[in-house]
Amino acid sequence: MKYSRAIAPAKVILFGEHFVVNGSRAIATALDLFTSVTAAEKASWPLELESASLGLKCVTGPELACSSRELEPLLSTIRALRSRGYDVPPARLTIESDIPPSAGLGSSASVSAATAAALTALAGQDIGPEELFEVTMEGERVAHGNPSGVDAATVVYGGTIVFRRGVGVLDSLDSRVGPIVVAYSGVRRSTGAAVLSVIKSLNAVRELRDLMIGLVERLIDAAWEALRDGSLETLGNLMNINHGLLSAIGVSTPELEELLYAARRAGALGAKLTGAGWGGSVIAVARPDAMKGVVEALSSRSSWVRVLEGEARGARAIETNP
Ligand code: PMV
Repeated sequence: MKYSRAIAPAKVILFGEHFVVNGSRAIATALDLFTSVTAAEKASWPLELESASLGLKCVTGPELACSSRELEPLLSTIRALRSRGYDVPPARLTIESDIPPSAGLGSSASVSAATAAALTALAGQDIGPEELFEVTMEGERVAHGNPSGVDAATVVYGGTIVFRRGVGVLDSLDSRVGPIVVAYSGVRRSTGAAVLSVIKSLNAVRELRDLMIGLVERLIDAAWEALRDGSLETLGNLMNINHGLLSAIGVSTPELEELLYAARRAGALGAKLTGAGWGGSVIAVARPDAMKGVVEALSSRSSWVRVLEGEARGARAIETNP
């Protein structure tokens, strides 16, 4: 029986979330935390999907629908594969993910990208990154409503990227960024609702919105230079400034602020929320000698803290048999 396995990384947005939906660039990086999808060919329909880590299961008909709302983004990606001419063979898909869902770490994009990579590998078809990005975006549209595409691009291309909505990846760094401390607040939230709320409040103050987007663009230039030079101190400083802007547009929360201040007090050079906010996760950078203290400070307030390295490669099939 034919079998394939694909993986896709998690991501964090380092700079520019929300503003990227409204016209600025963003910088994001893939992380060494993965979704893995195995696809085992079956003799006949239905397609079966199961994720023990996400607690989800569904059996579809040939029309690729099922009753699990959480799996709908994934099914939308699979339907997009089919409508682009890829053969979707009947298969049993097993999804395992180390990425907490709805935590701002790109779980939905990672699951969609790994699934598309596994299914195309199973059917013996090549899918390039452009099409993998497009089908992942179909899932993201269902998951988030109005995605900029930065999550999908980061998990598909890997590395550290500068991204602009409607244009794509403008620049990239293969070299690893990191280590980055990531702490999940434990508060799940909807990216789509946060995005809509920010669009609405920014549109109510158009002149200010344009000034803020201009500021974020300058921040992105400075951050890219700091990333290329490996200047951790500048990076931390710019992360603090970016967080101030995210607070200003109303997406921080007391839980996130508590994590950020704990990290900074313990010696982090900078910390910010990452992703849509209203819950989700924070990231921090620290010098090696301060790292242990930062992790301890965050661990006393969060049950999910990781020190993660950047991941240079994006979604890909890693096993195909035969
Ligand atoms: O929290 P996440 O991983 O869904 O990140 C969303 C990033 C936003 O800029 C808020 C939305 C987007 O589509 O870019």
